[in-house]
Amino acid sequence: MAKSKTLYQCQQCGGHSSKWQGQCPHCFEWNCLEEQAVQTSTSRFKSLNKKSNLININEVEINEIFRHPTNNSELDRVLGGGLVPGGVTLIGGDPGIGKSTLLIQALSSLTKNPNQEITAIYITGEESIEQVAMRARRLDLEVSDLLVLSEINLGNIITVIEKEKPSVVVIDSIQTLFSEELNSAPGSVSQVRECAAQLTRVAKANDVSMIFVGHVTKEGSIAGPRVLEHIVDTVLYFEGESNSSYRLVRSIKNRYGAVNELGIYSMTEKGLKEILNPSAIFLSETSFDQAGSVVTVMQEGTRPILIELQALVDESKQSSPKRLSVGLENNRISMILAVLNKHLGLSCHSHDVFLNAVGGVKISEPGVDLAVLIAIASSLQEKQVHSKTLIFGEVGLGGEVRPVVRGQERIQEAIKLGFKRIILPRKNLPKKTIDDVELIPVDNIKNALNAAIK
Ligand code: TYD
Ligand code: MG
Repeated sequence: MAKSKTLYQCQQCGGHSSKWQGQCPHCFEWNCLEEQAVQTSTSRFKSLNKKSNLININEVEINEIFRHPTNNSELDRVLGGGLVPGGVTLIGGDPGIGKSTLLIQALSSLTKNPNQEITAIYITGEESIEQVAMRARRLDLEVSDLLVLSEINLGNIITVIEKEKPSVVVIDSIQTLFSEELNSAPGSVSQVRECAAQLTRVAKANDVSMIFVGHVTKEGSIAGPRVLEHIVDTVLYFEGESNSSYRLVRSIKNRYGAVNELGIYSMTEKGLKEILNPSAIFLSETSFDQAGSVVTVMQEGTRPILIELQALVDESKQSSPKRLSVGLENNRISMILAVLNKHLGLSCHSHDVFLNAVGGVKISEPGVDLAVLIAIASSLQEKQVHSKTLIFGEVGLGGEVRPVVRGQERIQEAIKLGFKRIILPRKNLPKKTIDDVELIPVDNIKNALNAAIK
């Protein structure tokens, strides 16, 4: 028999508390506990694996992961090659960034492949089926094998999936669904978690590749955040500035592939276009010959991408100067400013510092430190960096330049795009010289700055 009791659940982190409190005891957010009627019925939790036999780990049979390539090369890159049957992917991002567009395009290219017998269902809770069809038509997509369903009731959705047994299901979005077993409103943490957990069970049991669209909260995390990330196999995240047409899809978690892999698109009137050579695109809008502008190479996932960093260091009128950055972490910038001051005597104490990674990319790796440092120094001293020079390396607190991962790939990418001078950590210097390319190894930031600035 099902028992009913009352619990309070945090709408931010999903944690429980047996009594109401002003502050969540788990994530310490305020005013986020809501009453929840919980049914502790055992029948809802069906086992995935029929037998619960113990087995020696060496005897476990491992089959190679089978994938359905979506034939959208950038999406396949972040997925690790394609959608995995039984795999559940969460794709998050700001409203209007292009989630629905990407998925309808991916479903079109997935189902129109004559070599694959694939059935797909697009379940929309947000838009009407007319709106979905209109978008597909406006984009001239071939979608003759794609089924659409407008539904937000979890039970009905599961019935359809179990009956049709499609290869791929898209749920747009997970926040619109509701389960009749819970009293809370659609979009609340308990609903989102319940719906995601039930659908994941259905996906695994029926070998369906499932994709959830998830909205982000104003803090930028996927609503019902932590809870969903644990449940699904893959988490993809859409990035991009509203004033730029570039859209980046990053894998944050992937049980079937590499993390931090980037898929790069540009939003056009004909939907999202894959950008196969992002370095060329990110550099095409640049003005290198200005003080404060430095080209570097970042390594996100398995792909090196060239990118321009711009620094503007200006005398501050305020007692506490501004530090603002787009695409770079503020903590790292504070560290680099401290290193500049301590080891080179270049102080920005009375200056505002603005930094921008051109193109709306978020950089999360330390291999661009040296370029950030040189960009700041270049703007502060109003001296340009030598033309056709690329800089990469990590900066240590002692002012030393440390090696970075995948140095060879970064050098190759720089050369491919026509850079003739590369300032790099000494430990990343290749053994062989490269024709027509000047490789300048450096051990510390002083040497780097001397080599970089005119
Ligand atoms: P959409 O995929 O609906 O975003 P999401 O599902 O993430 O909320 O994308 C909507 C935005 O994309 C909208 O502002 C218009 C723009 N867009 C284009 O610029 N070109 C297109 O071909 C399409 C379909 C959308
Ligand atoms: Mg949408």
